Amino acid sequence: MCIMTFDVSVVGPLNIDLIMSGEGPPDWNSIPTWDGPAAMEMTAAGSIGYTVQNLASLGASVTVSSCLSDDPLGKFVVDTLVATGVDTSLVRMIPDTQIAIGVYMLLFGSRKRPLAYRMPTHDQWQLAFTAEERARLLDARALHCGGYLHYREAWHGALVDLYREARARGLMTTLDPQFPLSPMPTPWMPALDDLLPHVQLFLCDEHEARGITGAEHLEDCGARLLVAGAETVIIKRGDQGALIFTGDGAVRAQPAVMLGTFVDSIGAGDAFDAGCIYGLLQGWDMAKCARFAAITAGFSVTGVGGSKTMPGLARILAEMGET
Ligand SMILES: Nc1ncnc2c1ncn2[C@@H]1O[C@H](COP(=O)(O)OP(=O)(O)OP(=O)(O)O)[C@@H](O)[C@H]1O
Ligand SMILES: [Mg+2]
Repeated sequence: MCIMTFDVSVVGPLNIDLIMSGEGPPDWNSIPTWDGPAAMEMTAAGSIGYTVQNLASLGASVTVSSCLSDDPLGKFVVDTLVATGVDTSLVRMIPDTQIAIGVYMLLFGSRKRPLAYRMPTHDQWQLAFTAEERARLLDARALHCGGYLHYREAWHGALVDLYREARARGLMTTLDPQFPLSPMPTPWMPALDDLLPHVQLFLCDEHEARGITGAEHLEDCGARLLVAGAETVIIKRGDQGALIFTGDGAVRAQPAVMLGTFVDSIGAGDAFDAGCIYGLLQGWDMAKCARFAAITAGFSVTGVGGSKTMPGLARILAEMGET
């Protein structure tokens, strides 16, 4: 029997989230004169940061391939991932560059999207893999990419070949593309058309599903993504839960699971992805994977960012009724 080094190889962008939360000014007119205390956190984020930390907390062995600035902020991200048990030996530290930063001011308004952000000045991840990197990424049971649509330069490139090879070798393949960072007319499907046939489980949220397919109704979005090649599609819908589309034409709903006081939904989707990937690695059916993922995401929304309040596997299994 062939024993793989890692459970999951993950490719995608990493960045820092600066998250401020607390009470805001009582009305807009008082903003110029208002000051007040707030809670502030710095987290290792990006389209894959929370996913890899949560996978590691669940007990999966994870290696991550990405690029970071070779400075104290890049080092903070690496140290945070290493502290949760993630292998970072494939992360490239690029000198004289700036890491991306998302600034979330959760004093009023959205509890999900950044108020402002700084883009990276380095590649988001490797546009070409060395033979050694490729071999290491394929030495796993599953391959995941988060944030593919964020990185236009990577479309139709080395990652497509990596997915093709991963499927040929029997790895599970999952993809959460997120969305294009600069305006792009819909449908965004042409960016994904050569990758989707190599994707077993495709995850996106409802806004992204509409942007990718150009369809309005989620049933049509799911159907188009299946026709484009994904084996299974999950469309995430915030506190409305998620819809699961399978090749037999079935559409199943997975309700959101609320496990305490809501703090923010930053990284909820990334936590959901981690739960799904973990479930697939256990050989569970999609319904069970989705329930486990909803509980994983349910824990993430009770704390700042996407990983701070992620418990270990035993707590999530207890919530599934499987102690
Ligand atoms: N307010 C909430 N309350 C409870 N659960 C939530 C809430 N928001 C999100 N979730 C859970 O997280 C899952 C993913 O949600 P969401 O639609 O926010 O994904 P996303 O847009 O991909 O997130 P991300 O911003 O991380 O990319 C949902 O299916 C649900 O299980
Ligand atoms: Mg998402």
